[in-house]
Amino acid sequence: MKIFFIFFFFFLLIQSCCSDNTILRTHSLRDGDVIFSEGKRFAFGFFSLGNSKLRYVGIWYAQVSEQTVVWVANRDHPVNDTSGLIKFSSRGNLCVYASVNGTEPVWSTDVIDKISEPALVAKLTDLGNLVLLDPVTGKSFWESFNHPTNTMLPFMKFGFTCQNGLERVMTSWRSPSDPGFGNITYRIERRGFPQMMMYKGSTPWWRTGSWTGQRWSGVPEMTNKFIFNISFVNNPNEASITYGVLDPSVITRMVLNETGVLQRFRWNGRDKKWIGFWSAPEEKCDNYNHCGLNGYCDPTSPDKFECSCLPGYEPKTPRDWFLRDASDGCMRSKTASVCNGKEGFVKLKRVKIPNTSSVNVDMNITLKECEHRCLKNCSCVAYASAYHESEDGAKGCLTWHGDMLDTRTYLSSGQDFYLRVDKAELARWNGNGSSWKKRLFYILISLIGVVLLLMISLFCFFRKRRQSNRLRKAPSTFAPSSFDLEDSSIFEELEDKSRTREMPLFELSTIAAATNNFSFQNKLGTGGFGPVYKGVLQNGMEIAVKRLSRNSGQGMEEFKNEIKLISKLQHRNLVRILGCCVELEEKMLIYEYLPNKSLDYFIFKEEHRAELDWPKRMGIIRGIARGILYLHQDSRLRIIHRDLKASNVLLDNEMIPKIADFGMARIFGGNQVEGSTNRVVGTYGYMSPEYAMDGQFSVKSDVYSFGVLILEIITGEKNSYFFEESSNLVGHIWRLWEKGEATEIKDKLIDEETYDESEVLKCIHIGLLCVQENASDRPDMSSVIFMLGHNAIDLPSPTHPAFTAGRNRNVKNGGSSGNWPSGETGSTINDVTLTDVQGR
Ligand SMILES: *[C@@H]1O[C@H](CO)[C@@H](O)[C@H](O)[C@H]1NC(C)=O
Ligand SMILES: *[C@@H]1O[C@H](CO)[C@@H](O)[C@H](O)[C@H]1NC(C)=O
Ligand SMILES: *[C@@H]1O[C@H](CO)[C@@H](O)[C@H](O)[C@H]1NC(C)=O
Ligand SMILES: *[C@@H]1O[C@H](CO)[C@@H](O)[C@H](O)[C@H]1NC(C)=O
Ligand SMILES: *[C@@H]1O[C@H](CO)[C@@H](O)[C@H](O)[C@H]1NC(C)=O
Ligand SMILES: *[C@@H]1O[C@H](CO)[C@@H](O)[C@H](O)[C@H]1NC(C)=O
Ligand SMILES: *[C@@H]1O[C@H](CO)[C@@H](O)[C@H](O)[C@H]1NC(C)=O
Ligand SMILES: *[C@@H]1O[C@H](CO)[C@@H](O)[C@H](O)[C@H]1NC(C)=O
Repeated sequence: MKIFFIFFFFFLLIQSCCSDNTILRTHSLRDGDVIFSEGKRFAFGFFSLGNSKLRYVGIWYAQVSEQTVVWVANRDHPVNDTSGLIKFSSRGNLCVYASVNGTEPVWSTDVIDKISEPALVAKLTDLGNLVLLDPVTGKSFWESFNHPTNTMLPFMKFGFTCQNGLERVMTSWRSPSDPGFGNITYRIERRGFPQMMMYKGSTPWWRTGSWTGQRWSGVPEMTNKFIFNISFVNNPNEASITYGVLDPSVITRMVLNETGVLQRFRWNGRDKKWIGFWSAPEEKCDNYNHCGLNGYCDPTSPDKFECSCLPGYEPKTPRDWFLRDASDGCMRSKTASVCNGKEGFVKLKRVKIPNTSSVNVDMNITLKECEHRCLKNCSCVAYASAYHESEDGAKGCLTWHGDMLDTRTYLSSGQDFYLRVDKAELARWNGNGSSWKKRLFYILISLIGVVLLLMISLFCFFRKRRQSNRLRKAPSTFAPSSFDLEDSSIFEELEDKSRTREMPLFELSTIAAATNNFSFQNKLGTGGFGPVYKGVLQNGMEIAVKRLSRNSGQGMEEFKNEIKLISKLQHRNLVRILGCCVELEEKMLIYEYLPNKSLDYFIFKEEHRAELDWPKRMGIIRGIARGILYLHQDSRLRIIHRDLKASNVLLDNEMIPKIADFGMARIFGGNQVEGSTNRVVGTYGYMSPEYAMDGQFSVKSDVYSFGVLILEIITGEKNSYFFEESSNLVGHIWRLWEKGEATEIKDKLIDEETYDESEVLKCIHIGLLCVQENASDRPDMSSVIFMLGHNAIDLPSPTHPAFTAGRNRNVKNGGSSGNWPSGETGSTINDVTLTDVQGR
C-alpha cells in the first residue's frame, strides 16, 4: 500500500511538473522528468536499456506496456549517470547535458545559426515526432522525424528533399542494448530512377527496388490498400515515401534490426505483445546481386540452381556456374549479333527489374515508344515501364544500357521486363520458352568437357543403381537423401498409404510420358510450390501434375502439408487427388484434371462472366460453402484452409466448384479453435484483419475469405480494386448497403432472365455478415449454409466490415450477437432472428 502511495505521489510529481506536451525555452527536464504527447501516445525523456546504467534521451510508446524506443537523441553519447539535463541552449537549440552544470552538450539539435527566434518551444506530437517550433507562427525549425534512427513510424516521411538538403536515412542500432549508429543503413537512392536500398557497411545488401505505382518492386506482397495509405513522391525536388495508416488507432512500426532485417510489427493490445507480420530480405534471391551481372534468380526454378543467365547471355565461367557459384555472372553470348536491325525483345514476366541506378528515364512516353527508342539505340539492352501499376495504366519508360544487376522473378506480382535479343534467340524463345535454358545447358556441358561428363555419368549411374536397389530391397527405409527424419516419416506414411491404396504412387516415367516430358506446352501455370502440368495417362485419363521446385524450402513444407491433408479428405467440393510421385529428387502430386479452369478465370474476365448466369453463381456459392463446411467440421479433422480465393476454386464440366491448394492449410485438434503464426501467408484481399495484422487464424478467417468470395462472385470485381473514397470492394458494397442500394453492385452481365433480386440481396447480406471486423460476429459455415438454404428468414444486420477507410472506431463488439444458430441443432426460423445491438 505504501509503495502504491509512493508511486502515486511520484506520478503526481511528474504530472505537475510537466503535464504539458511542450518544453518551454525557460524550462529544463531532469532525468526522471517525462513529457507526454497530447493523447498520451508517446513519451519523451531519459531512459536506460536492459541492465545498463547508461542514460539515453529519446521517445518511446507511452501506451504500450513493453519498453519500445522509437527514437534516440544521444545515440553515441550516453550520459553516465542520472545527473543529465535537457534544456535549451542560449542560442535556441534543444540540448542534452551530462550534468546540471555542464557547458558542453552531449547532444544538440544543431540548427543554431538559423535560429534567431527567441521563443522556440519543443513539442511532442501524437505521431511520435519531437518538433522545435515557433509557437506563434507554428513554423518548424527541426523535427525528430527528419532524423530517423532505426524505426519508421506511420506518417513519417522518408527519403530526399533537395530544397533543404535533407536526406532521411534509417540506421540500425549497434545491438539491442546499444542504440549507437550501427552499420546497417536503409535509404532511397536518387541516381537514375529512385530505388530503396539496404546496405551493410558500404556493401549493398538488399534492394527494395523502385516504386511501381502501388508497391516497391522488391516487395510483391506489399499492399497499399488495407492497412496503409502510402504516398510516394518522385520529382526533381523530392524522392520520398510516407506510410500513413488508414486507421489511426493501429499501432505499427517498421524497424531495421542489427542483423540487416527490416521488420514490421503491430501491437496486439489484447495479448500485450508486438507481432511481427512482415520481414525482408527473406530468401536467397533477395540477396543483392545473388546471380551476378546479367544473371537472374528464380526461387522456383525446376532446375537445380536458382540462378540462370538472362536470355541471350551465357555464364562467364561455366565451371563456377556448374558448381553453383554465379558470382562471376554472365556475358553476351559470343554468337549473338546485336544491332543488325533484325533483333527483337523477349518479355520476361513477374520480374523485379534490375538495378535502376544507371537507367535512362523518360516519364512522358508510352511503352510502345519505349520499345521503339530502345530498338533504335544499339547500346540499349532492355526496357520496362517506370510505373506499371499506376492509376492511369503503365507509365514512363526506363531503358538499360550496359550490364544488368540483381534481377529476379516472383511467383506472382512483379513486372514485365523486355530484353533485347538477336534474331536466333528470338526464334528460339518464341518457339519454345525454355529452349535457351536447354541451350545454355548444352554449352555448359560441352565446355566442361568429356572428362567431367564421364565422371558425372559414372556418378549418376552408381547413384541411380544404389537408389533403385534401396527401393527394391527395403521400401520402408526409402527416403531421398535430402530429407530429414521428420520428412522420411511422411514418406514412410506415404508408402503405407500406397500399400493400402489410400495414396497410389505413380512412377516418374509414367508421369513424364503423360506430360510430354514436362514440356512447356503442357505447363498450366504455377501453383503454391512449383509449376503445374497437364497430362494424359495411357488410359486416356486427364491429370494435373503439381511439381515441387527443388530448391524452394517453403515449397517443401507446403508439399508435405498438402500430402498429409488431402489424402485424408474426400468431398464433392474438394479437388480429388489421384496419387503422388516421389522418385529420385522429384516430388509431385497428381490430381484429377478439371477442364474448366478456376473461378477467377470466369468471374474477373468480362468475356467469360456472361457465361455464369445467376443459378450457376448460386450453385458455385453453395458448393464452396459445403466444401468449407466439410473442412471445418465434417471431415475427420478440423482443417483451416487459410488461402481461399477465386483462383483456388476449380470448376468441373458441370460448373461444380472444387476447392484446391491445401499447401497452407492447418489441421486443428478437436477442441482447438484458434491458432497463431508469425509468418502470415495468404492473399491480401481475402485475409481477415486478425490474420493479416496479428497472425491469428481460426475457422472464422476462412469465413471471412468466403464472404469476400461471395461478394466477388456477385459483382465480378476483385476485392483489391479501388473504388470511390479510396476503399476496396467490401467497403464500397458496405456504403451502398447502408444507403439501401446494395443491389446496384451486381454484375451487369448476369443474365436478366435468371436474376433473382431477393436471392442476390440475401447473398450480399450473408457476404457482409462474413466479412465483419469482429471474428466472433461472423457466422460459422453451418449457419451460412442454413442461411443460404432458407428464404424468408430474418438475418441479423451486419456490422461494419474490416479494412475499410473511415470506420467508426467506437463501434466495439456488443458481446451478444455471438449466439449463432447452428444448422445442426435444427433451429427454427425464430431462433435466427437476432437483434442488432451494435449502434451505427
Ligand atoms: C562517461 O564515463 C566514461 C568513462 O567512464 C568517460 O570516458 C566519459 O567521458 C563519461 N561521459 C560523460 C558524458 O561524462
Ligand atoms: C553545480 O554548481 C553549483 C553552484 O553553481 C554547485 O553548488 C554544485 O556543486 C555544482 N554541481 C556539480 C555537479 O558540479
Ligand atoms: C557491422 O558491425 C558488426 C558489429 O558491430 C560487425 O561484427 C560487422 O563486421 C560489421 N559489418 C560490416 C560490413 O561492417
Ligand atoms: C491518404 O494520403 C493522402 C495524402 O497523404 C491523403 O490526401 C488522403 O486523405 C489519405 N487517405 C486516407 C483514406 O487516409
Ligand atoms: C533481426 O530480425 C531477424 C528476423 O526476425 C531475427 O532472426 C534476428 O534475430 C534479429 N536480430 C536481432 C539482433 O534482433
Ligand atoms: C547499380 O549498377 C551500377 C552499374 O550499372 C553501379 O554503379 C551501382 O553501384 C549499382 N547500384 C547499386 C545500388 O548497387
Ligand atoms: C514531360 O511532360 C511535361 C508536361 O506534360 C513537360 O513539362 C516536360 O517538360 C516533359 N518532359 C520531357 C523530358 O519531355
Ligand atoms: C544511346 O543511348 C545512350 C545512353 O542513353 C546515349 O548516350 C547515346 O547517345 C544513345 N545513342 C543514340 C544513337 O541515340
